[in-house]
Amino acid sequence: MIAVKTPEEIALMRESCGIVKETLDFVGRNIRAGMTTKDVDGLVYRYITSCGARPSSLGYGGFPASACVSVNEVVVHGIPSDRAILDGDIVSVDITAEKNGFNGDAARTFLIGNVSEEKRRLVKVTEECFFKAIEGLKAGVPLYDIGYAVQTHAESHGYGVVRALVGHGIGRDMHEDPSVPNYGKKGTGMRLKAGMTICIEPMINMGTWKVNFNREDGWTVTTADGLPSAHYENTVLIKDDGVEILTL
Ligand code: MF3
Ligand code: CO
Ligand code: CO
Repeated sequence: MIAVKTPEEIALMRESCGIVKETLDFVGRNIRAGMTTKDVDGLVYRYITSCGARPSSLGYGGFPASACVSVNEVVVHGIPSDRAILDGDIVSVDITAEKNGFNGDAARTFLIGNVSEEKRRLVKVTEECFFKAIEGLKAGVPLYDIGYAVQTHAESHGYGVVRALVGHGIGRDMHEDPSVPNYGKKGTGMRLKAGMTICIEPMINMGTWKVNFNREDGWTVTTADGLPSAHYENTVLIKDDGVEILTL
C-alpha cells in the first residue's frame, strides 16, 4: 500500500525533513580530516536530539548508530567506527530523523580536503543524477522514469549504478512502499500521485555496479572492485505541478 499524505502529515514531514537538512549542513561545516567516522556520528546524534527529534537509524534492524558514514569504497551503511577520515577522502553521511511520528531521510557525500579530480567528478555526477531524476517529475509520471533518468546520466559518464539497494517511500516508517530503483525502463511502473513522499537516492560507483555485503558486521556495503562510490539523497514530495524537495 502506498500512502498519500494529508496536508497535516505533510506539514509534519516538512519539519522532520528540515531537521535532517540542518543536521547535514551542520556536519558539512564541521567534518574534517583527522576525525573518525564515530566523531561524525556524535555530531549527528547531538544535533538531531537537540532539535527534539530522534535519529531513526539508531537501533533500526539493530543498526548501532545515528548516521551511516561511508568512506570511499563503502557504498552505504558504513557503521561509525575508529576509522580516521583522511585528506582526499569522500565521505557519505546518510541520516534519518523522526519527530512527531514522521521521518525525513537524506544523504550528502562530503569532499575532505584535497580530493582528486576523478572523485570530485563522481560526486558531482551523483548529485546531478538526483536533479535529472526530478526534472519533470510530478503526479502522473511513471515511477521507473526516475531510475531511467539516474541510470542514463550515470552510465553516460561510464559509472556503475548500484542495483542491490534502492530508494523508497517514507513517512511514519523510514522505509515504505514503493521501492524507487536507480535503474529502469522509461514509461514503466505505477504512476505517482500527489501527496506521496519518496526518497530518491542515487548510489553511483566509479567502476562496476557490483557490490559486496559484509557478512561479519551485517551492514557495510562496499564496491566489488574497491573503487570509490558516492551517494546523494533527498526526501521529495510529489505534487500535481512538480515536486518539493523537503530536505533541501
Ligand atoms: N537512511 C538509509 C536509507 O536511505 C537507511 C539507513 S539504514 C540504518 O534508506 F540501518 F542505518 F537505519
Ligand atoms: Co538515507
Ligand atoms: Co533512504
